[in-house]
Order: sequence, then structure tokens, then C-alpha cells
Amino acid sequence: MNNKKNLKIIVFIIFGLFLVYGFWYFKNAIEISSYLEPDVIATHYNGSNFVGSETCLECHENIYKSHLETAHFNTSSKSKKDHIKGRFTEGLNELDLMSVRLKMIEEEGDYYQLSNIKYKTKEVVKSKIEIVIGSGVKGQSHLQWKGNDLYQLQASYFQPTDSWVNSPNFPENALSRKVDDNCLKCHVTFAEPKQESNVSKSYDRERIMLGIDCERCHGPSEKHVQFHRSNPDALIGKFVDNYKEYSRQQRLDACAVCHSGLQGQQIKGNPFSFIAGDTLSLYSKNYRNANSNTKLDVHGNQMGLLSESSCFVNSSKMDCITCHSPHENQRGNADVFNAKCLSCHDVETVNNVAEGQEHNVSQNCITCHMPLVPSEVMKLKLEDGMNEIPVYIRTHLIGIYK
Ligand code: HEC
Ligand code: HEC
Ligand code: HEC
Ligand code: HEC
Ligand code: HEC
Ligand code: HEC
Ligand code: HEC
Repeated sequence: MNNKKNLKIIVFIIFGLFLVYGFWYFKNAIEISSYLEPDVIATHYNGSNFVGSETCLECHENIYKSHLETAHFNTSSKSKKDHIKGRFTEGLNELDLMSVRLKMIEEEGDYYQLSNIKYKTKEVVKSKIEIVIGSGVKGQSHLQWKGNDLYQLQASYFQPTDSWVNSPNFPENALSRKVDDNCLKCHVTFAEPKQESNVSKSYDRERIMLGIDCERCHGPSEKHVQFHRSNPDALIGKFVDNYKEYSRQQRLDACAVCHSGLQGQQIKGNPFSFIAGDTLSLYSKNYRNANSNTKLDVHGNQMGLLSESSCFVNSSKMDCITCHSPHENQRGNADVFNAKCLSCHDVETVNNVAEGQEHNVSQNCITCHMPLVPSEVMKLKLEDGMNEIPVYIRTHLIGIYK
């Protein structure tokens, strides 16, 4: 009798232990598999999934951290206090234009533009700022959703004057203008179309990856993350692009997709179809290709200008990465850029510069050879009655300027 009772208790305990073990096992399995399977943020047309840069942190910590400081990463965001640069305080928050008065206000952490057309004195249109475009080096523009469409608001923030301006080329009285994917295509990582069709211009508001993040330049990386999490000892990157194996044109195209003018003529898919490693000319091109490159505007066309430069034409390897480190904020770091010039040029051999001045290695090369040039297309109106002023951008037409 006693033996039977003991047996029962033992069986019971064993069963209990199994239960606990089973529970522990499944919990762990779920944790392991959710570790191996990162959350998917959006899906590219080629079927591969985006997982976001926070996933990269655990293995590429240094790159991840320095990338957070770049203009790329900060080039678009939801309108948050720590990101929005314009002034919303009384006295600094107004813009008075010929036919419209604009006022920028903050209410409970949200930001709005109030517009009042002067001949309709009583009517005030209130527009919510939802997406901020621009890191703020030069300025920021604001977008608002109406249904599935994006509209740009009339007032933009201009850093050099620390004030509100009429957005570049913005028609007076429009208050907001539809921009489709025209800003998204160069200022975000990816946007998933609303409809099945790849050519869609309206995107799922919940599946836009703001900022230019790792996967814009390295492609959707779910498989790469899965592989390296399951194979922690693997030392060679798998399922990820390798820039070192790209041709010069492929390396250039990966940047040129956003840095060679508007690329307004879509040949294949939509602006997000192209990924690094592809050939850009199969996807999009600029209108009026017949124009000489020397007439290109300095705004947003570093590729066109650089490719006309003697440095580029006469060296077989030069591309954007020759001078720019893709994961670092290098703005204003003259030493870094001068060292790049000096890696190819021996200035001691270049003598008798203008008016008897001589070259020396301590000069800032770009002040003379890549000067700031006023943009013809990026012009801003500061206030009523004033002429438009151009935005100055550093030219990539490296050369001798008098
Ligand atoms: C579990 C670890 C792990 C995670 C997570 C991870 N990687 Fe990697 N990645 C590696 C390893 C290991 C290599 C090979 C060694 C190296 O180049 O650092 C690598 C290499 C790379 C390379 C260079 C490929 C080459 O051959 O030149 C790129 C680009 C890259 N990873 C991008 C990413 C991006 C983007 C993410 C986030 C979406 C990411 N990685 C997440 C482990 C990881
Ligand atoms: C603007 C485009 C761009 C963005 C954004 C970007 N990369 Fe890169 N990345 C590059 C290019 C170009 C190279 C090749 C550099 C070279 O060949 O010298 C590279 C190289 C790499 C490499 C291999 C070489 C190295 O430097 O170790 C890794 C790993 C990598 N990137 C990870 C990342 C991660 C992680 C992020 C996001 C936190 C990221 N990249 C964001 C363009 C980008
Ligand atoms: C998805 C479009 C896109 C791609 C791809 C892209 N860029 Fe950019 N880049 C931008 C935009 C937009 C800005 C303006 C950022 C800002 O200040 O808001 C920018 C700014 C820059 C700047 C100025 C940085 C600063 O500190 O102000 C440099 C340099 C640059 N890009 C180089 C590159 C290089 C090199 C590549 C290729 C490896 C590349 N970009 C790929 C869109 C892109
Ligand atoms: C074809 C790519 C492209 C498109 C389309 C584009 N941008 Fe840009 N944008 C850039 C690049 C590249 C830069 C930075 C370098 C330059 O000015 O040449 C930039 C810079 C900016 C800046 C200044 C950021 C800073 O702080 O320096 C703002 C603001 C901006 N863009 C807003 C917009 C808005 C709003 C739209 C849509 C109406 C738009 N952009 C469409 C490529 C583009
Ligand atoms: C990859 C190598 C390389 C780099 C980096 C480079 N150059 Fe050059 N550059 C050349 C070559 C090659 C030529 C053709 C003339 C020659 O052989 O000296 C040239 C020509 C020039 C010229 C003469 C232009 C003309 O129209 O006659 C100037 C000025 C110049 N470079 C300035 C610079 C400056 C400034 C930098 C840095 C911002 C720079 N280069 C970076 C390779 C380079
Ligand atoms: C010979 C060196 C060199 C090469 C090659 C080069 N850049 Fe630059 N780039 C510079 C320098 C120098 C600056 C000015 C940096 C500063 O202001 O601190 C600059 C600035 C920029 C800016 C910011 C312009 C502004 O005024 O806001 C962008 C965007 C940019 N480069 C993109 C590119 C792209 C894209 C490529 C390839 C097509 C490229 N660069 C190739 C040297 C170079
Ligand atoms: C004060 C302005 C200024 C600065 C700063 C400057 N240069 Fe020059 N550079 C010139 C002028 C002007 C010429 C044309 C000289 C001539 O034709 O006699 C020139 C010519 C050149 C040439 C072409 C020489 C040739 O034989 O055709 C190169 C290459 C060059 N500079 C590189 C550099 C480098 C690299 C730096 C930075 C260390 C630099 N320069 C700084 C003004 C400058």
C-alpha cells in the first residue's frame, strides 16, 4: 500500500518535472526563434524583407553608432521635438508673404502651420506637420498626409538665416502642394505601395522607413541577419551586398540614384525598385539628357558634376567613396578632405598659383577648387517684397576657378 502511494508520488513528481521542462523548453524555443527571426518592417518587390538598423547594432556597433550622426540617417523623421529645427516661439514663428500670412505653432507636442490668405481675412487653414524632410544642415521642409497622398507645406525652415521661408519654387496661395513620392524617393529608405502595382505613387503610411538607413544602401537584410545569428562563427558576410566586388559604375550608381538630379523619368518599376548593385540606367534617367553636364545645377547633382571633372575623367578608380566615408558625418572636416586630394596630388609640383601665391599642403584645397556655388533652382523667398536668394552648394565640378 505504502509502496503504491510512493510510486504515485514519484510518477507525479516526474510528470511535474516534465511539465516544467516542457514549459521552459518552449519558452526558450520561442525566444531563440524570435531571436533568429527579426521583425519584418517592410517587403521589397524582389520578395526580400527589411528589418531596420536596430537589428544591425549587435554585430556592427561602431558603424551603427556613427551612422546615427549622419545627414542621411537624419534626413527624414516624424515631427518630433528633438528633430524639428524651425522656431515655434512667439515672435520667431511668422512668415509674411505677398498674399498669405503663415504662423507656425506647437500644441501638446504636435506642430502645425496656420495659413491666412490675406484677402480672406477670417479664414485660417490649420495643417499638421507630420513628416520633416531634411537633416537641418541647410534646412527642413514639412509634409502632411491627406488620405494616402503627401502634401508639402508652404513654409520651410532655412538654417543660414534661422528663419521661415517660402518653400523653394512654391506657388503663393497654394498653402500645400501634392508631392506624390517626389520627396520620399530620395529622403527615405523604403515605402511600401498601397496597391499591388509597383508603379504606385501612394504608399502605406504605416510602412514607410524614414531616414536613409543601412538597408537603403545595402539592400533588405533579413537573410543576412538570420544567417549570422544562426552562425555566429561565420566571418565572411553572407546574403549582403559587397561593395568591394562592385564595378565602378555599380558603386557610383548606388549613390547616383539620389545624387544625379531628379531622375524624373522612371523606366522600370518605381523609385524604390532599384537597389545597390543594380544598373541605374535601366530604372530611371533625367529628362533632357541632351543638355551639357556643365549646365547642371549644383543642387542634388554631385554625380553629373563630378563626372565632368578632370580628376574623375583621368583616374580609373575615383568614385564617391574615394572622398566620402558612408557611415560618418564628415561635414566641415577639412583635414580629411585635404588628405584625399593630397593622396593623388603633389602640390609641391604645382607652383605660381594666382598672383604669385604658392600651393602648400596646409591650404584648404576645396575653397579654391570646389567652391560654394549658388544654386539656380534652389532659391528662397524670405519675406514679402524681398528678392529670392539662392542656396549655396559646394560644386563637385573640381577645377580651376578664377
Ligand atoms: C548576428 C550578427 C550580424 C547582424 C545582426 C548583422 N550582420 Fe552584417 N555582418 C556580420 C558579419 C559576421 C559580417 C562579416 C564580417 C564583417 O564584414 O564585419 C557582416 C558583414 C556585413 C557587411 C559587409 C559585407 C561585405 O562582404 O563587404 C554589410 C554591408 C553588412 N554586414 C550589413 C549589415 C546590415 C545592414 C545589418 C542590419 C540590417 C547587419 N549587417 C546585421 C554579422 C551580422
Ligand atoms: C549611404 C549609403 C550607406 C549607408 C546608409 C550605410 N552604408 Fe554601409 N557601406 C556603404 C558603402 C558604399 C560601403 C563600402 C565602403 C568601401 O568600399 O570602402 C559600405 C560598407 C559597409 C560594411 C563593410 C565595410 C566596413 O566598413 O566595415 C559594413 C559592415 C556596413 N557597410 C554596414 C552598414 C550598417 C550596419 C549600416 C547602418 C547602420 C550602413 N552600413 C549604412 C554604404 C552605406
Ligand atoms: C536614398 C537616396 C540617397 C542615397 C542612395 C545616397 N544619398 Fe547621399 N544624401 C541624400 C540626401 C537626401 C541628402 C541630404 C541629407 C540632409 O542633409 O537632409 C544626402 C546627403 C549626402 C551628403 C552630405 C552629408 C552632410 O553631412 O551634409 C553626402 C556627402 C552624401 N550624401 C554622399 C552620399 C554617398 C557617397 C552615397 C553612396 C554611397 C549616397 N550619398 C547615397 C540621399 C541619398
Ligand atoms: C533626386 C533626389 C531628391 C529628391 C527627389 C528630393 N531631394 Fe531633397 N535633397 C536631395 C539631396 C541629394 C540633398 C542634399 C545635397 C544637395 O543639396 O545637393 C537634398 C537636400 C534637401 C534639403 C536640405 C537638407 C539639409 O538640411 O541640408 C531639404 C529641406 C530637402 N532636400 C527637401 C526636399 C523636399 C521637400 C523634396 C520634395 C519636394 C525633395 N527634397 C526632393 C535629393 C533629393
Ligand atoms: C583619385 C585621385 C584623385 C583625387 C582623390 C583627386 N584628384 Fe584632382 N586630379 C586627378 C587627376 C588624375 C587629374 C588630371 C590631371 C593630372 O593628372 O594631374 C586631376 C586634376 C585636378 C585639377 C586640375 C583641373 C583642371 O581642370 O585642370 C585640380 C585643380 C584638381 N585635380 C584638384 C583636386 C582637389 C582639390 C582634390 C580634392 C578635393 C582632388 N583633385 C582629388 C586625380 C585626383
Ligand atoms: C574628390 C573628393 C570628392 C569626391 C570624389 C566626391 N565628393 Fe562630395 N564632397 C567633397 C567635399 C570636399 C565636400 C565638402 C564637404 C564639407 O563641406 O565639409 C563634399 C560635399 C558633398 C555633399 C554636400 C554638398 C553641400 O554643399 O551640401 C554631397 C551631397 C556630396 N559631397 C555627395 C557626393 C557624391 C554623391 C559623390 C559621388 C558622385 C561625391 N560627393 C564625390 C569631396 C568629394
Ligand atoms: C588660394 C587658392 C588655391 C588653393 C587653396 C589651392 N589651389 Fe590648387 N590651384 C589654384 C590655382 C589658381 C591654380 C591654377 C594655377 C595655374 O594655372 O598656374 C591651381 C592649380 C592646381 C592644380 C592643377 C595643376 C596643374 O598642373 O594643372 C592642382 C592639381 C591643384 N591646384 C591642387 C590643389 C590641392 C591638392 C590643394 C590643397 C592642398 C590646392 N590646390 C589648393 C588655387 C588654389
